[in-house]
Amino acid sequence: MRALGLGPGDGVAMVANAGMYAATAAVAAGCTPVYCDINPGTLLMDPDSLATLSGETVRAVVVTHLYGLLADMPAILNVARSRGWAVIEDCAQAHGAQRDGKRAGSWGDLAAFSFYPTKNLGACGDGGAVVGADKTLMDRARSLRQYGWRGKYYAVEPGGRNSRLDELQAAILLAKLPALDQQNARRRAIASYYRGVPHSGLVFQDDEGEAHVHHLCVLRSNHREAFQAHLASHGVASDIHYPCPDHRQPVWNGRFNGVRLPVTERVCQEVVTIPCHPWMDDGEVEQVADAIRAWSP
Ligand SMILES: Cc1ncc(COP(=O)(O)O)c(C=O)c1O
Repeated sequence: MRALGLGPGDGVAMVANAGMYAATAAVAAGCTPVYCDINPGTLLMDPDSLATLSGETVRAVVVTHLYGLLADMPAILNVARSRGWAVIEDCAQAHGAQRDGKRAGSWGDLAAFSFYPTKNLGACGDGGAVVGADKTLMDRARSLRQYGWRGKYYAVEPGGRNSRLDELQAAILLAKLPALDQQNARRRAIASYYRGVPHSGLVFQDDEGEAHVHHLCVLRSNHREAFQAHLASHGVASDIHYPCPDHRQPVWNGRFNGVRLPVTERVCQEVVTIPCHPWMDDGEVEQVADAIRAWSP
């Protein structure tokens, strides 16, 4: 956001079901989150809801490819471009996702990746990267990550900090990168197997082939608590990503009380994450599938 020149007084459009990450970044940059609603099938930013936001304060959009599914970038870019808003992709959960041969991170003006160990491409500690095709923006991002330097040792860009990717982590990531597509394919196979299992009262997040890298396998249930207890009784772990929508987080002290996001608010009460990762063996996948089969709401 700072590489884009955003700061106090600038609104950043984003969804509210994505773990507060974009909002935390906006606040750190002095910007204000402006929330829009999600599509109930994809669980991602709804371009129609984005289009209803006021263009007066909004200057950029953060698009989160949540759970590994690439958002509807053509429609979102249409809205953003018509209003002169910059577009930042949050690819923390979507390494390798692609549509029409175009990968997550190559659609917007800038994109952020996380390499936290649990990610589809994870380091052995914290790490991340900003990518983009615009040289001016990338020069500014590079400068901001290292004390605001332009060359050695001239601090030119205000607000610089030390935020380099550790070289040891970079070496680990380089060694792991070649396996990413294959591991994503295994995630896809597991998620698609779950979908094919007869089930009742469960609604899976939309699937879109290679556009989904299934960082998380998320479904919705009207009886979430009972479903989680049922999974636990079959020895299957589950989690909720994320239980509290951003605009209702206690940290805001009611600042967004006037914001209504009906789909987001409902979905946050229904989502459940079930195990899906490339290190599961077939027996473990079958154990989850059995639990899905055996569930009746
Ligand atoms: C969607 C999303 N955005 C941003 C982040 C933040 O990344 P990091 O933990 O590397 O700061 C995460 C994960 O932690 C995430 O899942």
